[in-house]
Amino acid sequence: MNILLLGSGGREHALSWKLAQSPDCDKLWAAPGNPGIAQDAECVALDATDHAAVIEFCRANAIGLVVIGPEAPLVDGLADSLRAEGIDTFGPSKQAAQLEGSKSFTKELCDRAGIPTARYRRCTSLEQAWGALKRFDPPFVLKADGLAAGKGVVIAESREEAQHALSEMFDGRFGSAGSEVVIEQFLTGEEASFFALTDGVSIVPIGTAQDHKRVGEGDTGPNTGGMGAYSPAPVLTQALQDRAMREIIEPTVRTMREEGMPYSGVLYAGLMLTGDGPQLIEYNARFGDPECQVLMMRLESDLVELMQACAQGRLGEIAPPRLSDDFALTVVMAAQGYPGTPKTGGAIGLDGAESNSAKVFHAGTKMAGDTLVSSGGRVLNVTARGASATEAQRNAYAAVDAVDFPDGFCRRDIGQREVRRETHG
Ligand code: AMP
Ligand code: GLY
Repeated sequence: MNILLLGSGGREHALSWKLAQSPDCDKLWAAPGNPGIAQDAECVALDATDHAAVIEFCRANAIGLVVIGPEAPLVDGLADSLRAEGIDTFGPSKQAAQLEGSKSFTKELCDRAGIPTARYRRCTSLEQAWGALKRFDPPFVLKADGLAAGKGVVIAESREEAQHALSEMFDGRFGSAGSEVVIEQFLTGEEASFFALTDGVSIVPIGTAQDHKRVGEGDTGPNTGGMGAYSPAPVLTQALQDRAMREIIEPTVRTMREEGMPYSGVLYAGLMLTGDGPQLIEYNARFGDPECQVLMMRLESDLVELMQACAQGRLGEIAPPRLSDDFALTVVMAAQGYPGTPKTGGAIGLDGAESNSAKVFHAGTKMAGDTLVSSGGRVLNVTARGASATEAQRNAYAAVDAVDFPDGFCRRDIGQREVRRETHG
């Protein structure tokens, strides 16, 4: 079968690496891809917002499966356009992708389905939001309703800070994403991510992970798209995973189906493990980046078979995903300046970085003549496996140290919380 993968980041490199290993993958295309993805796929320039062009490409190249990596084309309804033409697609419909695209949609779904999540107020004007603040105690959690590239959440320590942030949100700081705001009760606990595949009816877990969102060591400094991640997340014990499935994932998938907007694809639940059990912080309608990189390192099953079964509503007919028992850990190497304006164009040398246990996924790279150079904020995802988090961390940093990227930086403490637990119990 010929497959088209859409996207260009580290997540998509991990997906292309895994898709290309499948015996069912005859020819893999990627649009637009990147130099790492180009090792697994033929990269083509296709504009994912031009649905007709994507459909035309699929026809011309006998594409049997389209895999949509990032959230924007999902929220834009690309999966609907492709399915309307009879093209099997991995990824939810526009309506179902509201689980990521609209915070208030998800909160209201939680109300209807009885899913544990933080108490909230939905506000459509600044006056209303300032009024609603009175119903909450600090710290205040303020969320712009729509897609804001992972930057739409403000945690304000004081009422004044919250009022200021709300003014900015309604003033258009996050564009149209901020025309509606959700104010939430602050939850305390440890955060962990849970991933499940679903075809709208059957649901199968595909691993757990924890990431590091802050740019600085010790989880300090501004938020980023993620500076590193590891899988599994042992804090999500089997008992907690079963509970998250029963109380959060299953009622979500069931309610979406019953309400006529069945969800198919990967459902990525950001959970807070509170004293009262797991609570939903947010949903994403796609794999996490860089969480996907660690999940793909551990996935032993055929990804093409799993994704095709999701797309065709046959997930219940095949074996559930199998993940290796070991750990995978990924370190993001970013360009100086990130998460502000990154310095792009810096040369990158990867000789000797990869090994049996280490793989370098490309996130923001491009070729300048014969030289690999950085082209974005997050540049490389140096990913390694090991029997424990400690060993995976050691292997990942050994690979990081073999990378020659003078204009880059990374955190040296990815996975430290887990390593500490392994050391001190
Ligand atoms: P989100 O984009 O909804 O995942 O939020 C970004 C980050 O803000 C999360 O990863 C949490 O660290 C934090 N956060 C979001 N909602 C809450 C909440 N209700 N209580 C505490 N922290 C939260
Ligand atoms: N790493 C967080 C995300 O992909 O949303």
